[in-house]
Amino acid sequence: MQVNELLTDKTTEEAAWTALERSIIYYQGRPVGTLAAYDVTTEALNYDQCFIRDFVSAALIFLIKGRTDIVRNFLEETLKLQPKERQLDAYKPGRGLIPASFKVISNNGEEYLEADFGEHAIARVTPVDSCLWWIILLRAYVIATKDFSLAYQPEFQNGIRLIMEICLANRFDMYPTLLVPDGACMIDRRMGIYGHPLELQVLFYAALRAAREMLICQGNQDIVAAIDNRLPLLCGHIRQHYWIDINRLNAIYRFKSEEYGKTAVNLFNIYVDSLPYYELDKWLPRKGGYLAGNVGPSQLDTRFFTLGNLMAVISDLATEEQSQAIMTLIEERWDDLVGDMPMKICFPALEDEEYRIVTGCDPKNIPWSYHNAGSWPVLMWMLAAASVKTKRTNLAAEAIGIAQARLGEDEWPEYYDGKKGRLIGKQARKYQTWSITGYLLAKELMANPSYLRLVSFDELPPEAVSRACEFEIRSVDPYIA
Ligand code: GLC
Repeated sequence: MQVNELLTDKTTEEAAWTALERSIIYYQGRPVGTLAAYDVTTEALNYDQCFIRDFVSAALIFLIKGRTDIVRNFLEETLKLQPKERQLDAYKPGRGLIPASFKVISNNGEEYLEADFGEHAIARVTPVDSCLWWIILLRAYVIATKDFSLAYQPEFQNGIRLIMEICLANRFDMYPTLLVPDGACMIDRRMGIYGHPLELQVLFYAALRAAREMLICQGNQDIVAAIDNRLPLLCGHIRQHYWIDINRLNAIYRFKSEEYGKTAVNLFNIYVDSLPYYELDKWLPRKGGYLAGNVGPSQLDTRFFTLGNLMAVISDLATEEQSQAIMTLIEERWDDLVGDMPMKICFPALEDEEYRIVTGCDPKNIPWSYHNAGSWPVLMWMLAAASVKTKRTNLAAEAIGIAQARLGEDEWPEYYDGKKGRLIGKQARKYQTWSITGYLLAKELMANPSYLRLVSFDELPPEAVSRACEFEIRSVDPYIA
């Protein structure tokens, strides 16, 4: 079958829609979200809840199809679940957080929503990404409906403000990035992503941009000034310090360490022996590059994390040159990153002693499984959006074709295992909603590239970035605008 024919495969698409409809959750008679998975064959655990991050791709599809009510209801109800008062009990979620998930509880004919901020999740992981996705989704709603009035309502203005306060609060850290605990995002188990993981930095950037567009300045001058201050610093920091390509690897390889004070070039004191430079030398294509997984004191996590890299392209955090290089890397390392199911959550897997120490011997995250380099169909929509943004749509078309040949038949698994993504995930749920919507949304974005505007941003004014860079960056780097 040709790629074009695959893109117009109606049978898989119809099956996907039927499965999506079935996953819709109703609360007091109104649609408010979607189940994580509708799998009657396996114990529900917490997959009968609506996860904020999982709902994003469903919401975008609903917005595209004009079904704005479910998205509006979702935004209104989740906003009500956000703690509004300062919390004295340190075991309770802090003011401003949005839960990881919620579920409808019926009690004597009365319905209410129960939020989960990680208290019921494995390992009590904090959902930092939820509040960021919530703001990004609110902006997508505003763009799709051309109606700012929802965002301008006092409750919404307050909700955005509280999220900004928790993100921009004074802290012990002195980087423009967000300091977070391990497992605080899509990867919600211990995976060595504490500190300043890329995924959360990119979502933070997009949420700052979205909040800046929606916050009414009057009464919010302090927050607006803080956002204006932070955005260019964050942008310059990621572009400079997270970037890896063969030139950059060469520079890092010859870095001096133990430099003190203002003239230091190796700002984070990276010891080259901590990097798998020999593997990277083989793996990095001549032209491609990517943003590293994490940067901190003597730490450069060189794993490729897909969500962060693709969202950096989509949100315009990466420069045009970097975005093209990221897509080139995906093209050149297709077998590793896409293989037989788009697309790996990260690459490569942690193995052996490193797996044991970093994951704490997590049996679900064994090498080449689940979060530890498993393949997640939901990531397909981000691949499609990034392909559209960089005008490399042949990549997304190819990926959709690969997924389409299997996903429906395999009953929409949550994830796949194996180096090439050929094995249905060992503990994967079937009829996982975001696998369904990842596929549907990828097709919509390809069919109508203008939907990209729901999640993308214009360039930050270059003066803002370069002004910020003067503060922070002392070495000359071609990637700074
Ligand atoms: C797993 C995933 C998480 C997702 C949840 C529900 O915990 O790691 O990202 O939100 O399942 O699908």
